[in-house]
Amino acid sequence: MRIMKKIYEGKAKIVYELDDTAEECLIEYKNSLTAFDGTKKDSIAGKGSLNARISAKIFEFLSNNGVDTHFVKLENLGEDRFAHVCKKVTILPLEVVCRNIAAGSFSRRYGVQEGTPLKNPVIEFFLKNDALHDPLITEQGAVSLGLATPTEIEYLKTQALLINELLRYFFDRLGLILVDFKLEFGRTSDGRILLADEITPDTVRIWDKKTLEIVDKDRFRRDLGNVLGAYEDLWNRIQDNPLIVGEHPSLKFHVFFSVRMHPTVPDSSGMILKRALEWMGFGAVSHVVSGRLMRITFTNAMLNHELVTRLTDVAQNMLTNPAIEEYLMSFEVESGTSLPLIKESIKRD
Ligand code: TMP
Ligand code: ASP
Repeated sequence: MRIMKKIYEGKAKIVYELDDTAEECLIEYKNSLTAFDGTKKDSIAGKGSLNARISAKIFEFLSNNGVDTHFVKLENLGEDRFAHVCKKVTILPLEVVCRNIAAGSFSRRYGVQEGTPLKNPVIEFFLKNDALHDPLITEQGAVSLGLATPTEIEYLKTQALLINELLRYFFDRLGLILVDFKLEFGRTSDGRILLADEITPDTVRIWDKKTLEIVDKDRFRRDLGNVLGAYEDLWNRIQDNPLIVGEHPSLKFHVFFSVRMHPTVPDSSGMILKRALEWMGFGAVSHVVSGRLMRITFTNAMLNHELVTRLTDVAQNMLTNPAIEEYLMSFEVESGTSLPLIKESIKRD
């Protein structure tokens, strides 16, 4: 492998072309640290290499648990420079944030005390646009601007919730509470969506389970000091814990198929109900469509591209008659079933 030219330089990473493959690129982690759209800046020697190694471990853990990611391998460039060889993707212009405990912009936006546990994990989308300060965007907003299709939004949300279960487990094993985190996804040239970017203390909020001490970039954002010490602490916890890579915490999600008659096919049950409703005085009923719902529950599996492809095949060949029926596939994740790590008592001033 030989590094070719720089393709892109962002606030925290540099992307290079590789000379021996067009499908992969090299992403070097920089020492720079920024916050508040880059208005607060610093550089800490050693931070880039720590983050590259931390992110590599987390991506390996997620891959081992079935998540489709862009990560291929960690590359030591020498002189304390580390990079990831990654599959090339086009990054979606959406940041996907998942929260277990109120903190940061969520606490500010809704006036909720930081540390308040949320009744269920919350997924938020933010538009990647520094000039607009990465505003929150609704699902309908993202779809209507053509940033993602409704199916892609559904897939991103389900992925983020399942990744949340995996990461909560990962950090729990390290004695840490996963408060929230940000994910980015990218599209390959053949249309697959892969988890991309990084998962590091720059992009997660993690607190020590016993002391509630902050072990992430909030130490920099809030001038708490000992930023590098916190990143080293996380790296040491990961290194000292061989159990986390390759373990399969229990995941549970449901896949729903709602099947209905194709609009051109006469639907006798639908027509009977329509007539009954008209007889009851619901004059404005123009159509009633009947159908059926199927729920398949998966445990210890990951929703990824392969599973969606196989489920699509099952739906078309076993669950429906494509000549007369159409279907919609949707997902629901059961959160926190085996991970009761958030205690009601967590509060931070
Ligand atoms: P927020 O509370 O500031 O919205 O941040 C939510 C999570 O997203 C937190 O774990 C930090 C992470 N994050 C990033 O990775 N990049 C960003 O630009 C921002 C604003 C947050
Ligand atoms: N990463 C963002 C920036 O560099 C903001 C943040 O993480 O707080 O501005």
